Amino acid sequence: MHNIRKITNDLVYVGASDRRLALFENVYPIPRGVSYNSYVLLDEQTVLLDCADLAVMPQFMDNVAAALAGRKLNYIVVNHLEPDHAATIEEAVLRYPEAKIVTNAKAANMIRQFFSFDLDSRLMTVGEADTLATGRHELHFVNAPMVHWPEVMVTYDAIDRILFSADAFGTFGALNGNIFADEVDFDRDWLDDARRYYINIVGKYGVQVQGLLKKAAALQIDTICPLHGPIWRKDIGYFIAKYDTWSRYEPEQEGVVIVYGSVYGHTAAAAERLATLLAERGVRQIAVYDASQTDVSILVSEAFRFSHIVIAASTYNAGIFTPIENLLHDLKAHSFQNRHVALIENGTWAAQSGKQMRSMIEEMKDMTVLGDTFTIKSAMKPAQENDLAELADAMLGSME
Ligand code: FEO
Repeated sequence: MHNIRKITNDLVYVGASDRRLALFENVYPIPRGVSYNSYVLLDEQTVLLDCADLAVMPQFMDNVAAALAGRKLNYIVVNHLEPDHAATIEEAVLRYPEAKIVTNAKAANMIRQFFSFDLDSRLMTVGEADTLATGRHELHFVNAPMVHWPEVMVTYDAIDRILFSADAFGTFGALNGNIFADEVDFDRDWLDDARRYYINIVGKYGVQVQGLLKKAAALQIDTICPLHGPIWRKDIGYFIAKYDTWSRYEPEQEGVVIVYGSVYGHTAAAAERLATLLAERGVRQIAVYDASQTDVSILVSEAFRFSHIVIAASTYNAGIFTPIENLLHDLKAHSFQNRHVALIENGTWAAQSGKQMRSMIEEMKDMTVLGDTFTIKSAMKPAQENDLAELADAMLGSME
C-alpha cells in the first residue's frame, strides 16, 4: 500500500519513516524514529531524488511506483551516498533499469565501492553548476562536501525554487502524516531533535555548512526538501538562522548546562548545589544532567545549545569518571568551541579528574575556563559553600 503526498503539482513525497530502529547509525538513540525522505519529480522526464534506507524499502518502492503511476523513471539523482539514503539504489536500478544515475564523480566511486551492479552504462556524472533539463524544470547541482560526507551535493530546482538539501536541514523524528514544518509545532516538538541531529551528525563540519549557507544565500529558495524530517515551505529563515548559529559554534541561548559524573552521589550533590546558587542569582536557563543516565548525544547537543557548561566528575582509575571522559572526547570530536566552562572534581584520596578535564578542554578552540577547579574530597562541606558561591558569581559575571 503506497503512502505518498504531493508537495507541488509535479513533486511527490515518496519517503518513509522507521519507528523500529533503536539507534541511528547504530549509535544515536531515536525514540521518535526517523524519516528517510525521497522525492519524485514528474516532468516531461521523471526524476527520483535520492533513495531510502533498506529498512523501509517495501514502502519506499510502493511509493515510487505510485508516484510514477506507470510512467517510466528517467533519472535517479543521488545527492548523498550514505546507506540511509542509498542502500536501495540497487533495488531501484533493478526495477527501473532504464533510469540514468545522476551524481558526481566522488559519489560514483562510492557506488562502485558499495555495490556491484553495472553503474557505468547508466551513469551521468555531473559537477558543480551542471544542470539537467527535464522539461519545465531545470535542476542545478551544487557541491556541498562534508555536509555530511565528501561526495554530498544538493540539487536546486530553479523553476519552483526548491532546494533538495541532502542531510542539511534534516532532523531525527519519524513523520506523522504532516510532512511540512508548517503543519507541526516545530519549535515545541522538533527543535530539540533537529539540534541533536545537526550537532551529532554534521556538527563537526561547521565551516563546510557555512560554505553551503553562503551558496544557498545566492539562491531564491521557496521550499527546502531535506533527507530527514519535515519539509520547509514557510518561515525558512527561522531554520536557516538556527543552522547559521550552530555552524558558527555560537550558543543558541545564554544559560548553563551542568553535567555531572558521580559514583556515589557526592559530586552530583555539589553540581545540584551550584544549580541552586545560579538560580538564586537569577539565571533561569539551567539544565542539569547525570552523564551516567543521559545519552551522550543529548549532552553534546545541550552543550552546543548553552553559552556555559559546568562539568563535574569524580576521579576514577586515576582519571576522569568514564561517562564524563566520553563526553569530553565527543565534544572535541564535534569541534565544540567558544564556550565558558566551570569544573568540579572529586577525589577521596587523589583528585585527578579536574586537571585532566582542564587539559582536554584546553585542546578545544576558544574555551574560557572560569576560576579554579572546585575540588571536593569525598563530599562537599558547608565550609566550601563560599567557594562554590564564588564560582557561581564568576559564571554570572561572564554572562551578557
Ligand atoms: Fe542521512 Fe549522512 O545520511
